[in-house]
Amino acid sequence: MTTAPAIAVQNLDRNGFLDLEVDPQLDLIAEINRLKKEKNAVILAHYYQESEIQDIADYIGDSLGLSQKAANTDADIIVFAGVHFMAETAKILSPHKKVLLPDLKAGCSLADSCPPHLFRKFKEKYPDHVVVSYINCTAELKTLTDICCTSTNAVQIIESIPKDQPIIFAPDKNLGAYLVKKTGRDMVIWNGACMVHEIFSHERIVKLRLRHPNAKFIAHPECEAHILDMADYIGSTTGLLKYTINDPATEFIVATESGILHQMQKSSPNKTFIPAPPDNHCACNDCPHMKRNTLEKLYLCMEYELPEIILPDWVIEQGRASIDRMLEVSAKAGLMG
Ligand code: 13P
Ligand code: SF4
Repeated sequence: MTTAPAIAVQNLDRNGFLDLEVDPQLDLIAEINRLKKEKNAVILAHYYQESEIQDIADYIGDSLGLSQKAANTDADIIVFAGVHFMAETAKILSPHKKVLLPDLKAGCSLADSCPPHLFRKFKEKYPDHVVVSYINCTAELKTLTDICCTSTNAVQIIESIPKDQPIIFAPDKNLGAYLVKKTGRDMVIWNGACMVHEIFSHERIVKLRLRHPNAKFIAHPECEAHILDMADYIGSTTGLLKYTINDPATEFIVATESGILHQMQKSSPNKTFIPAPPDNHCACNDCPHMKRNTLEKLYLCMEYELPEIILPDWVIEQGRASIDRMLEVSAKAGLMG
């Protein structure tokens, strides 16, 4: 095994990634493929990653599919091209494997919006409630959770809980409100949100639809209710992708992170995909956390096997139960991410 020089480890502490020079002549794709074989590593990538990372990944998927893969891989090393909470989930599910994240600072505004010490106090006010947490939360929050969910299985998870059992839902208020509407369950909802999905402009989407009257408008349930109310289809990233493949429409306005457009365009080369406009002309629909990962950082992290996700044993033990319960319900419902 190779190890990083001491100076690089200092850079890692400061920057969250190995800040080493990469020879610009290096064929990064060939190098990453070589390292994958040599180290028996698997690259799991979320749909919001840069297209070049998606193209080199062994598996591309949504949060449910990525956790199913992380639980079942034979690889010795899991390289997670995604954000911190996703790599933590992979570590919880495969504690004896090495889990690498190209940039440790690839965080998540939604996960950050629910600090575990504040949530613990909040939860104390509702001692008879079951806690359902969206998987987009920290590993420590998962230790305070009874059952996790993703946007693919959230409805099934809520419906698997007896009707007379009160529920706290964390951390996404928009997904929570959508689930209340969909399932008719009255839940106590934590006030968190994703910065990317809260940026869409109602007014600009209405104008865009007038210019593209045949386009279908599709949205992720992390969007606000006034955006979801306009949607022809609401679903997880996998759900949105499948919808664009199966629906006869040839134009789609897509309200989620722009990385998913790469797979949509690849799957349906003759269809047109338009990112839904944000409410600020300077902003785009890119998740700044997801986009911290680059091909260079991916190569360096595979070469030096750093940065690695390390979790305390108690977090792995207590966090695991909530993810296992989710995977059981999804398996029973036949759900694949
Ligand atoms: P899914 O891919 O599970 O729909 O999650 C979206 C998301 O925001 C991930 O960060
Ligand atoms: Fe978090 Fe939103 Fe980025 Fe997903 S898109 S990682 S929920 S900030």
